[in-house]
Amino acid sequence: MEQHLQHPVFKALADIAHKHHIEAYIIGGYVRDIFLERPSKDIDIVVLGNGIEFAELAGKHLKSKVAVFKNFGTAMLKYQDLEIEFVGARKESYRSDSRKPIVENGTIEDDQLRRDFTINALAISLNKENYGQLIDPFNGITDLNNKLIRTPLDPELTFSDDPLRMMRGIRFASQLNFSIEEQALTAIKKQKDRINIVSKERITDELNKIILSKVPSVGFKYLFDTGLLHLIFPQMANLYGVDIINGKGHKDNFYHTLQVLDNICETTEDLWLRWAAILHDIAKPATKRFEEGHGWTFHGHEDKGARMVPKIFAHLKLPLNEKMKFVQKMVQLHLRPIVLAQEVVTDSAVRRLLFDAGEDIESLMLLCNADVTTKNEYKVKKYRNNFELVKQKLKDVEERDKIRNWQPPISGNDIMEIFGLSAGKEVGLIKNAIREAILEGEITNTYDNALEFMLEKAKEFGLQPIKR
Ligand code: CTP
Repeated sequence: MEQHLQHPVFKALADIAHKHHIEAYIIGGYVRDIFLERPSKDIDIVVLGNGIEFAELAGKHLKSKVAVFKNFGTAMLKYQDLEIEFVGARKESYRSDSRKPIVENGTIEDDQLRRDFTINALAISLNKENYGQLIDPFNGITDLNNKLIRTPLDPELTFSDDPLRMMRGIRFASQLNFSIEEQALTAIKKQKDRINIVSKERITDELNKIILSKVPSVGFKYLFDTGLLHLIFPQMANLYGVDIINGKGHKDNFYHTLQVLDNICETTEDLWLRWAAILHDIAKPATKRFEEGHGWTFHGHEDKGARMVPKIFAHLKLPLNEKMKFVQKMVQLHLRPIVLAQEVVTDSAVRRLLFDAGEDIESLMLLCNADVTTKNEYKVKKYRNNFELVKQKLKDVEERDKIRNWQPPISGNDIMEIFGLSAGKEVGLIKNAIREAILEGEITNTYDNALEFMLEKAKEFGLQPIKR
């Protein structure tokens, strides 16, 4: 802590506080992160009095421009690589239908009491008489040591003041691998419906932070157990459960999905590939059938799942751009390498997979690897061996045939010129025939081979070249 307090910015703030007889404290996430040894660049300063006026004094002293957010009673300035936010200590109470507080001035302890969690309510004094002293009236340090998410106030009040905190608590538990105190969990279960007054964007922001944590199943289990998941992302909650007919059950797709998600997090930081893991089996409940003599099937869940992706993204206010398209493609193709690994791997099947996955083939292979969640060691070994085989085959075929970034060796324009055609159905038919022949391995992926094949094929369509 000493080392952090050596920063000249804190000395400067302490001087201003002293000169103007204002008490000032570092508070919140920055203090928490000192103890967690996670260096942070966001500093919150709370003063007993007017936060904006103090920020303006600091801005003058540090020669930095101050941004004022009058509605929130806060102000912010940037100094070197630090972002420093100022606020007056508050004694808050909230209306029941809104997250906007009614604010009164308060003491430092009033302010700490109204914060979300004890680990976020730690303060460090910037005042001359006790500079650097930790102020921890709610035992935040003990909770940090015990890895516990706990609220300073009765959790019912803390969450009802700001229901987003239910998501934040679960997010911190997931990021830090902490437990949520029993009383707080009970309060979330009781008040879960109040999440409806929080904007979708803020909810999804927290959801994405959970997904980006090291072991996201920690957060998702809390979301599920408290009932929040059913409200914010019902399609995922719907994966839960096992049906049994004639003594035959299927695996629980919720816990399977969490396992796949945790698995993929060991190999990628990419948020969208992690989303693909969450959504890969999302249509299993909708496609579930029990077939006599066969057991449970989920035919077409990859197609239906891919069709569900845009709706889910729109509902969660996730971007409807190429990221969504990527997730959709992963969901659509997630069974392909597994199927391939179970059969004799033909070159043409590999070429087709490369053609469909294109640049995203590595991501798809990671997803498929993560999808192996059987506890049967023998099966795991068999799958992994087969995957290695598929990977090798993918490499060989790609080196030879260059399908991954495939461009037709004969373009639509070439076809029109050669046969004197204008754009239309016939051009498409010829292009498809060439592509199929290449993928099937009837011809190589070269201009000469494709031209020869095309001239032959054109006869079937009754076309004559006017130029070669
Ligand atoms: N805070 C709160 N209730 C909220 C949001 C924030 O009480 N709904 C308080 C907490 O004391 C928190 C501080 O405001 O530590 C700063 O909030 P923020 O910057 O959003 O989060 P951090 O705790 O700094 O954590 P992170 O940067 O990981 O979001």
